[in-house]
Amino acid sequence: MKSRQGWADLYAFEVSRAGNTPLFRQVYLQLRSAILSRRLRPGTKLPSTRELAAQLGVSRSAVVAAYEQLLAEGYTSGRHGSGTYISPDLPPPIDGKVPRHMKPAAAITSAATSMQAFSDFVDVTAQSDQRPFNLGRTLVDARSIELWRKLSARAFGSLGPDHFGYSDPRGTIELRKTICEYLQAARAVRCDPEQIVVTAGTQQALDIVIRVLPGLDKEVWIEDPCYPLTRQALLAAGATVRPIPVDAQGIDVGAGIATAPNARAVFVTPSHQFPTGVVLSMARRLELLAWGREKNAWVVEDDYASEFRYGGRPLASLQGLDENERVIYIGTLNKALFPGLRMGYAVVPHALLRAFVTARYLMDRQPSTLSQAVVSAFMEQGHFAAHIRRMRLLYREQRDELVAALRNRLGADLTVHAPDQGMHLVAFTRKGLKDTAIERVGRQHGVIVRAMSRLYVAAAPRSALVLGFSGHPRQTIMPAVERLAQAVAQSKLPSRPKRRGAARRCE
Ligand SMILES: Cc1ncc(COP(=O)(O)O)c(C=O)c1O
Repeated sequence: MKSRQGWADLYAFEVSRAGNTPLFRQVYLQLRSAILSRRLRPGTKLPSTRELAAQLGVSRSAVVAAYEQLLAEGYTSGRHGSGTYISPDLPPPIDGKVPRHMKPAAAITSAATSMQAFSDFVDVTAQSDQRPFNLGRTLVDARSIELWRKLSARAFGSLGPDHFGYSDPRGTIELRKTICEYLQAARAVRCDPEQIVVTAGTQQALDIVIRVLPGLDKEVWIEDPCYPLTRQALLAAGATVRPIPVDAQGIDVGAGIATAPNARAVFVTPSHQFPTGVVLSMARRLELLAWGREKNAWVVEDDYASEFRYGGRPLASLQGLDENERVIYIGTLNKALFPGLRMGYAVVPHALLRAFVTARYLMDRQPSTLSQAVVSAFMEQGHFAAHIRRMRLLYREQRDELVAALRNRLGADLTVHAPDQGMHLVAFTRKGLKDTAIERVGRQHGVIVRAMSRLYVAAAPRSALVLGFSGHPRQTIMPAVERLAQAVAQSKLPSRPKRRGAARRCE
């Protein structure tokens, strides 16, 4: 740590007197952004208030107010007589919620927003944390790893001109045919291989959709609460995002029509709403498609994790119900197989196909031919279906273990629902417990739980923990729930009294 201690002194903090933002707030925001993005690391000593004030040419009281705010929010800790240090136990990074200073009420218009402005709320390292119960992690068993090795070796062994040159930006025809057959059989998707575009996963598919859909700068609906990366990608592209509440039937289409009847698109997770897990009811599906048809709006279906269904009737895709080619269907192999693969696909309506393929081409030309050859063989030879079957059993066991452990150990504090599908569950907090407090303290106890309330935008937030079970082997679950229980107990303790001046809210 010592060697890093001088870094904050060298940091290029700047303030401007041109705008309306008070100086203390500018100092606070810059420091917080640098801390959250880990440009300034935990344990780093901040310059003294006197030094920083002199460096920035501002009054010392402005720097003191900024430091007090950071201290009150847990970003720093003060060691008496020895200065202010960036906290070793950082509060969870802000990735589900845009800082309040950036969003006027329910609509967020940010056409002029540059990516720079987003660096303080997108935590780009969050998903690589291995600890329980981080979301989006998968398991790959020895059998699949061995097959993957063999098929990769075979693909390398048969390298030929087809692998070395440029190829179809949509992906190889072999892979597109296989994906198409799979989607028709498993998800009742209406498609032909010409409409399939292989992408690096959901995120790239969303990015392309956002680039090619006309009029997205006007208005789009998103679910509230929502998958933060969809919302952030839209905001980064300057869309006007209208959060539409989700209830027990999924997105409230009537509320969407009342809020923004002429929106150009809606982004939904109908099979397993993220994060609530609610399934979009048939009535709502039909309502949504009717709205899309009537308004010539697009429905973007993110069908992540549909492979992992543990009970109840299999759910067909929303795209399969659509008679008018208004749905862009997005699927991912990064969940069905493993996130490091970086492969997914979109089924693109004919009217958008040319623009979509062009955007994909301009972005990164094409998917890697070699990875496509391996995935193609894995799917064609039946290993994909077998892998899904095995993982489904495993994930179901892990889900059951987690549900039982939570009910046993934390039944008085949490209400736990066992989801029929997916890779995470939602546990609602009881008796006024705050999910954000548990999230923060959980980190100190080595567990990653996501506070659902932070995934809300405008709707009244519900306090719940979102816990991933797919990537965490059964034997790790009970000990992790034990640590979570300690975190829950600690979160109930009264918090440290705030220091004078720290009550000023900066967001
Ligand atoms: C709602 C949702 N969609 C899609 C994905 C998958 O994204 P990708 O394919 O980019 O890894 C995730 C992963 O966490 C998700 O939660």
